[in-house]
Amino acid sequence: MGGTEGNRSPHEEIAFLKQQLAQAQKMSALGELVSTTTHEFNNVLMTIINYAKMGLRHKDNATREKSFEKILAAGNRAARITNSVLGMARNRAGSQEPLNLTQLVEDTLLLLEREMNKYRIAVDKQFQPIPEAFVNGNQVQQVLLNLLINARQAMPGGGRLILKLLYDREEEMIDLVVRDFGCGIPADKLPRIFEPYYTTKAGPDASGKGGTGLGLSTCRDIVDSHRGRIRVDSTVGKGTAFTIKLPTVKHPAAQRAPAAPVVAVPAPLAGPPGIATGS
Ligand SMILES: Nc1ncnc2c1ncn2[C@@H]1O[C@H](COP(=O)(O)OP(=O)(O)OP(=O)(O)O)[C@@H](O)[C@H]1O
Ligand SMILES: [Mg+2]
Repeated sequence: MGGTEGNRSPHEEIAFLKQQLAQAQKMSALGELVSTTTHEFNNVLMTIINYAKMGLRHKDNATREKSFEKILAAGNRAARITNSVLGMARNRAGSQEPLNLTQLVEDTLLLLEREMNKYRIAVDKQFQPIPEAFVNGNQVQQVLLNLLINARQAMPGGGRLILKLLYDREEEMIDLVVRDFGCGIPADKLPRIFEPYYTTKAGPDASGKGGTGLGLSTCRDIVDSHRGRIRVDSTVGKGTAFTIKLPTVKHPAAQRAPAAPVVAVPAPLAGPPGIATGS
């Protein structure tokens, strides 16, 4: 990261620092993703190795058949994990394109499955049929990962997490809702949660996640760059719901092609307490 350079105006300096900030968040999100994927992959490999050993040890057909089935299932799972990572690597430019959001959400959940099990979080998927979204898959995945990890961290003793996909026909938008039944956010803190560096976490948790305070500010920048909206409803002790609205392919935002590459820039303060919205 560069420091203050001699002949930059304060305005240019701010723009420069904002870019650096966005880049830093991207790198930390990528780091989290790599470590999650590696863990997942390791898990699958252990399954394959153990069932291969079992099949070699036991010569009876029933055990061998079962071993092969387990190995096949684990192999398929590994292939799905690789595919989802390759999918992410494809569109790094920041451009928006028609995308199957349900698939993206499923892929992301697959990566977090082990982590959610570990923290005893039951994910309840409520997916309605939706048309294709017009989005940047990497960026939406970054948003989703942060919201899911925030939700998980809000329920340290485990709990239920509802993930919804809804089609808002009137606005030609897709609503993605992440609802947890965790600690909630006090009304006086709600306006601050989208501020860069605002965090109530002491630092990364046992899984190495959270604590920079950049997650939600990046989420809002990404949603803004899609001409979408983000809102939060929260009650202390009851839980929190984040709703992200993203354009479908039929939205006017999708007709304006080609979409400009996005540089995520931290936005100023959020709205009034109770409901904070992006853009
Ligand atoms: N689902 C949630 N339930 C309760 N509080 C939340 C939730 N999501 C966000 N918060 C609050 O908002 C703060 C900011 O969230 P944000 O994701 O921006 O940063 P963070 O999670 O602390 O760190 P990171 O940058 O690593 O994501 C959190 O520290 C937490 O206090
Ligand atoms: Mg976060």
